[in-house]
Amino acid sequence: MELACVGVVGSGIMGSGIAETAVESGHEVILLSRTTESAQAIAKAIKTSLDRRVQRHKISPVQADDALRKLTVTNEISDLRGCDLVIETVVEDLAVKLRLMKDLDIVCKPTTILASNTSTFPVVELAAATARPDKVCGIHFFNPAPVMRLVEIVRTLVVSEETIEQAKRFVLSCHKEPVEVKDQAGFIVNALLFPYLNNAIKLLEQKVATKEDIDFAMKGGCGFPMGPFAVLDLVGLDTALSILNSLYEEFGEPNYSPAPLLKRMVAAKMYGRKNKIGFYSYSS
Ligand SMILES: NC(=O)c1ccc[n+]([C@@H]2O[C@H](COP(=O)([O-])OP(=O)(O)OC[C@H]3O[C@@H](n4cnc5c(N)ncnc54)[C@H](O)[C@@H]3O)[C@@H](O)[C@H]2O)c1
Repeated sequence: MELACVGVVGSGIMGSGIAETAVESGHEVILLSRTTESAQAIAKAIKTSLDRRVQRHKISPVQADDALRKLTVTNEISDLRGCDLVIETVVEDLAVKLRLMKDLDIVCKPTTILASNTSTFPVVELAAATARPDKVCGIHFFNPAPVMRLVEIVRTLVVSEETIEQAKRFVLSCHKEPVEVKDQAGFIVNALLFPYLNNAIKLLEQKVATKEDIDFAMKGGCGFPMGPFAVLDLVGLDTALSILNSLYEEFGEPNYSPAPLLKRMVAAKMYGRKNKIGFYSYSS
């Protein structure tokens, strides 16, 4: 298999989901986390998620065991040196991602493709931080990664055809559907989704309806599987704020200017499902 060994950096919502997807598809995965504790916690979380998929008859117990055997967790970046592809999924903070890309460029073998799961940052800036800009692209999975079928492949001005083709083949090997997009903030999905989510918060601020009724209305009236506040909690309010800030910086359009309530909630450390308190409260 091409790109047989895949590195995943970051052990948050997306890092764990992408690692799980890749091992389930037969790739060897090395997941880099910042600490030994978080590395162990993420291995446990992936096992729990695979077990849940077995209980729901999505995969067999043998498939779950095979997948787990393909997962290695580490807190040493040098362990990624032999990977064919590394996907970074760290916090949506440009300075953090730039520093990481520089480090990956030093550590990884010259043929390694370096990909970012960023939602909004210019992938070309991440490419320019390396000495291999032709081997850097965006591979933007959606949340939850094991379930969502779409992956946006982000083509920068300087990436090679070979890199784009390899990225698409990797996505197909994960049983996902790639769509190629230009390197522009928000790509397709978030450029369209985030004004809607932001405007839902603004409706709530204007007391047009309760959050429960807005969610209910968008499910019942538009056939959406989740309402906007449930989606925001799933994405993570800190990540949502970063995405809106980047979109606003790139386009300057009022629709992207983050709703004040979102800023206040992030300041209050209300991040959504990941820390169990957002627009809704979560017990587990
Ligand atoms: N949440 C979503 O729905 C979603 C969907 C698609 C893409 N993304 C993108 O994926 C990336 C990760 O998002 P997430 O939702 O998994 O976030 P998260 O908050 O769940 O996880 C972030 C990860 O970054 C690590 N991190 C934080 N600060 C760091 C630092 N200074 N140095 C190194 N690592 C650091 C954390 O330990 C954690 O492992 C972001 O670029 C985001 O835009 C998110």
